[in-house]
Amino acid sequence: MEKPKHKAVLFSAETRFRLVFLQGSIALTIIFFVLGFMASFHWWWPLIVFLPLSILGLHDYSQTKHSLLRNYPLLGRMRFILEAFGAPIHQYFVESNQDGAPFNRDWRALMYQRAKGIEAKKPFGTEMDVYELNYEWLDHSMTPRPIPEEDPRVTIGSPDCKKPYSASVFNISAMSFGSLGPNALLALNTGAKMGNFYHTTGEGGISRYHRQPGGDLNWQIGSGYFGCRKDDGSFDPDLFAEQTQDDQIKMIEIKLSQGAKPGHGGILPGPKVTPEIAEARKVPIGVDCVSPAFHKEFSTPIGLLEFVAKLRDLSGGKPIGFKLCIGHPWEFMAVCKAMLKTEIVPDLIVVDVAEGGTGAAPLELTDHMGTPLREGLVFVQNALVGAGLRDQIKIGVSGKMVSPGLMAAAMAIGADWANSARGFMFALGCLQTQRCHSNECPVGVATQDPKLNNALVVEDKSKRVYQYHKGTVEVLKEITAATGLKHPSEFRPEYIKMRTSSTEVKPLEEVYRFLKPGELIDGTDHPLFGKYWDQATAESFHTQEAATKPKTKTVKRKAKTADSK
Ligand SMILES: Cc1cc2nc3c(=O)[nH]c(=O)nc-3n(C[C@H](O)[C@H](O)[C@H](O)COP(=O)(O)O)c2cc1C
Repeated sequence: MEKPKHKAVLFSAETRFRLVFLQGSIALTIIFFVLGFMASFHWWWPLIVFLPLSILGLHDYSQTKHSLLRNYPLLGRMRFILEAFGAPIHQYFVESNQDGAPFNRDWRALMYQRAKGIEAKKPFGTEMDVYELNYEWLDHSMTPRPIPEEDPRVTIGSPDCKKPYSASVFNISAMSFGSLGPNALLALNTGAKMGNFYHTTGEGGISRYHRQPGGDLNWQIGSGYFGCRKDDGSFDPDLFAEQTQDDQIKMIEIKLSQGAKPGHGGILPGPKVTPEIAEARKVPIGVDCVSPAFHKEFSTPIGLLEFVAKLRDLSGGKPIGFKLCIGHPWEFMAVCKAMLKTEIVPDLIVVDVAEGGTGAAPLELTDHMGTPLREGLVFVQNALVGAGLRDQIKIGVSGKMVSPGLMAAAMAIGADWANSARGFMFALGCLQTQRCHSNECPVGVATQDPKLNNALVVEDKSKRVYQYHKGTVEVLKEITAATGLKHPSEFRPEYIKMRTSSTEVKPLEEVYRFLKPGELIDGTDHPLFGKYWDQATAESFHTQEAATKPKTKTVKRKAKTADSK
């Protein structure tokens, strides 16, 4: 039989010794007590240690909450102590440069250096095993271009959008007031203003800390409609229209799902709904605040697009889109079909992915739900290209987009720009202690505790946010130029190579199948894409039997010649 991988080492020894610590300390307490009487009172000094230990041991032995302590009085406490200190000891003393999750030491060092404005250089060559399976690299050109002075930008706005937004290629992903503290948000938004990039609010509404510095905002609206809701929790069009008059709000993103916890609703308990949180969310103070797992404003693909059109109208023509992590493929195909049917297209789609972060989520959802970046992004790119819609919609991506190399690879397979949440948390000083849900963030980033929050100095950390963005974009520009390109939008799947066996290397154009513009409408020979497309219907997120519905070629709308990017 296979041996268990993790053993409770301390407690795997013979059980007959389990009481030895308790018995030993009681015995020593009695011995020193008696000696104090019989010889000198100096023998009572050790009792300062052994008497409390004996009392604690007896307490462990008799309490009923922890069976480990009942079986191993005193010794059992070693486990709790080692558990508490194990992670930091491992991080500081044991971890190699390639160790550490979700972000290894090398990545963290890179982010800290960029945030501090130190040029992140590595002497002596790569530590990576370039012959390892799945190792990837980007092909350079024999004729690199000069690095452009201007930062690359991307214009977000479909033909129906009256106020297109010119976005940076690197922006701050959604993090709500509540999961981040006031000073963290002030520093993020100040950094965004300094660097001319956007800051996504998170689904918890637009707090005064998002607004105060005046940096560009992408307002995220989740199923709780925080910031634009009626008392019963439904969407309030008037409040939405009023809020979006603010010029600081450049775009609006409907949150459908998040890669780290797809399909997960949430509740903020009443005691945590402080006056400031209530102000941002437009909810009563001290009352439980629910985010359902689903939206109440729509329940069909067409309904989603009508909601997009409604928001665009109410906002006076600002770019409107949605963020999602891909789940059932036919559902997204259904949205594409709805776009063709209604001729309503969102201005932006942000693809979030399984490896994305969260403030808190059930482990099973984090570890085993949601499509990872490569598959999710390639799928969205293919669906939009195949439906002939890609040239009207811009695609953002989020999920470990912390370095220009990863951004370039994502752009090669479909993204127009990248967003990062945890990258910017590192810029704020995050130590990856993974205690975001405990309100005890040691560096004051993910906490509402005023004492911890005050340690984060906005002036200093906003500069780091600015520098992290600037350093990242600078290197992206350099990589782009070294590839022989003018703009990151020119990255193509053929520029990235992947080692697929010890002797074989493939460009990403061969690793993934990329559809041709309009291929889904014209009828694809790709078995799964063809099947999902046939199953999808604009009227429902659920599949319909392929036999009972029109064939792909009968879809009326003529495909536009989308750029296959
Ligand atoms: C502390 C924290 C809070 C978050 N809050 C939200 C949120 O309110 N809405 C949302 O769509 N995503 C939220 N996310 C997810 C991020 O916006 C992003 O999609 C995900 O973390 C991507 O991975 P990254 O952290 O590697 O960039 C949060 C992530 C973190 C780490």
